Amino acid sequence: MTVNLDWENLGFDYMELPYRYDAHWKDGAWDEGGLVQGGSLTLNISSPALHYGQSAFEGLKAYRTKSGAIQLFRPDQNAARLNRSASQLLMPAVPTDQFLAAVKQVVAANAEYVPPYGTGATLYLRPLLIGVGENIGVAPAKEYLFTVFAMPVGAYYKGGMVPTKFMVAETYDRAAHFGTGQSKVGGNYAASLQAGKYAHEHGFGDAIYLDPIEHRYIEEVGSANFFAITKDGRKFVTPKSPSILQSITRRSLMDLATSVCGLAAEETRIPIDGLNDLAEAGACGTAAVITPIQSITYRDHVHQFGDGGVGPITQKLYDTLVGIQNGDVEGPAGWVVTVEA
Ligand SMILES: Cc1ncc(COP(=O)(O)O)c(C=O)c1O
Repeated sequence: MTVNLDWENLGFDYMELPYRYDAHWKDGAWDEGGLVQGGSLTLNISSPALHYGQSAFEGLKAYRTKSGAIQLFRPDQNAARLNRSASQLLMPAVPTDQFLAAVKQVVAANAEYVPPYGTGATLYLRPLLIGVGENIGVAPAKEYLFTVFAMPVGAYYKGGMVPTKFMVAETYDRAAHFGTGQSKVGGNYAASLQAGKYAHEHGFGDAIYLDPIEHRYIEEVGSANFFAITKDGRKFVTPKSPSILQSITRRSLMDLATSVCGLAAEETRIPIDGLNDLAEAGACGTAAVITPIQSITYRDHVHQFGDGGVGPITQKLYDTLVGIQNGDVEGPAGWVVTVEA
């Protein structure tokens, strides 16, 4: 059973649900962890997460299928990525089993907030790993908190699969070449706020970053990866860069582009002055799903892809991905994990 909410009109907004999961790390080990109630944390004021950004997170969704079951999409990949982020910030890894158990417990405990099938809404889960405790010098924390909380959300980019205009943020870098770009850490998002604000104020869905060394090659969007279909209709291409987040959606689309669309999938450098070689383009991520890119504004030039509508391959990839996530299409083995609620 679900609670009574206006599921069709949900945004991407915080909502306090009855339960979250907390586990604490101290003296070299995680405690057992478990469900707790409430939406506030009490932290020491000198916690490194607050001052020095020792903070990593994940984002994944729980989907309600037609039969009313609840499923997750590739949560093991989120566990693995959280631990890569943790490693870069000198934080302890969260055991994969504990991560998966935490996510499942939070979904099951808040099951009545998993939106009904067919509404387009989902339950968004936010695992968070932060350095806490007394620590005023620039040094890794001696204690850590791993928490998972959740809320129902609608489509991130309003209108869902609606072609969206993006702009190139040439005077902003999201991450440095040898920096933390490949990790899902708080500081990357603080660094993206200005460009995002600029893009929104100028009527764009979001900013696209270029590589931080030459400012020639496409990196990614503030909260999504970039992909495109080449004009010859043969390749799914997506940026190869050490400073972009390794999107789980993108990895999945690369597999589907090959297995479902018969394309070659390639991570490669995509020059911003080579947009004429691309027929379709999109932004992809857990929140964004697939947002087709209608146009990219770079300096004074507006480059429109095709007729500005949704390209046929983008549509096919979207239908397949969303079909798998919602349980309507059978995906590759292991992509979907059922939650007993
Ligand atoms: C910077 C950035 N790139 C890409 C993505 C997409 O990653 P994923 O598909 O794993 O959600 C995200 C998160 O959604 C992100 O924050």
